[in-house]
Amino acid sequence: DKTQGLKDYYKDFFPIGVAVNARTLNGKEAHLLLHEFNSITPENAMKMEVIHPQRNVYNWALADSIVAFAQKNRLRVRGHTLLWHEQVPDWFFLDNQGKAVTKDTLLKRLKDHITTVVGRYKGKVYAWDVLNEAIDDSPQRFLRLSKWLDIADEEIFAKAFVYAHEADPDALLFYNDYNSERPEKRERIYRLLKKLVDAGIPIHGVGLQGHWSIFEPSTADLEQAIERYASLGLQLHFTELDISVYPWEKERRTKRADEIDTLTTVLEQRQIDQYGRIFSIFRKYRQYITNVTFWNLSDRYSWLDRYPVYGRKNYPLLFDRELERKKAYYKVVDFK
Ligand code: XIL
Repeated sequence: DKTQGLKDYYKDFFPIGVAVNARTLNGKEAHLLLHEFNSITPENAMKMEVIHPQRNVYNWALADSIVAFAQKNRLRVRGHTLLWHEQVPDWFFLDNQGKAVTKDTLLKRLKDHITTVVGRYKGKVYAWDVLNEAIDDSPQRFLRLSKWLDIADEEIFAKAFVYAHEADPDALLFYNDYNSERPEKRERIYRLLKKLVDAGIPIHGVGLQGHWSIFEPSTADLEQAIERYASLGLQLHFTELDISVYPWEKERRTKRADEIDTLTTVLEQRQIDQYGRIFSIFRKYRQYITNVTFWNLSDRYSWLDRYPVYGRKNYPLLFDRELERKKAYYKVVDFK
């Protein structure tokens, strides 16, 4: 049924979003976006290195145009992201002599940044990924090492939420991370979230990125993660969904050895099954899940074409390279 888009099929469940960049706002891609989605996330435009490249320089052009596009077309905007260890310019951490700043200075710079960015889009960005990927991948470590924690301590994470809340008291504030349904990492994320909640920090939700593959997550891991996070009274957004046709761990080791140049029937069927299974879990937990966002629009362009192996084609989304609906699309909108 071409009259309905994903957003229409899911209108009684949750908004359906997509990550956007400058290209997505024009032509055929914009047309598809508006037909299928009712929420957008700037893929890079609000990250520190893009929006605040130098101390007294803000680059508003792209973020402004994304927010204006959303306003004009009545789309929700998820803001991404205010505090992250990647895509952050070095000037935050250095004084005029090139020496490391003090914790107080760093907190002040972060506060200025968050106040300015969140304040500019007050009432227009409905949810912010305040803190991104702060938990380490290794079970031996709790918090990920970063330039932020070289200078400050865990308090800076709580402060980020407080600053964002002061700048827009109506915005929903999220902690966002990947592999957040894997039981061991899930428990360390839970521990961080619980500390914030118990301390009365304004945090409203947890973002599960959902960079998955045809091999994971398992039903049990996904369902247990949803229930565990929801038990903190937080809402859940799936913020960066894509289903790679390559295994996550293996792709880090094998470089391009397993590259395929078209989506084969076997892999495609696995992806269809995976999308179907995951969306039926999302529907089952609709009381907790308040947004599901895809990380890019179609297989014409996915960030996974460059990551973690540069130049290998991936096919992780619901629309193909011609922007047509894939079989997985029909599975996702089939509620049987
Ligand atoms: C990615 C973008 O898609 C790429 O264009 C960019 O080069 C790197 O960042 N987790 C996140 C996102 O929170 O911000 C990342 O986005 C993907 C992983």
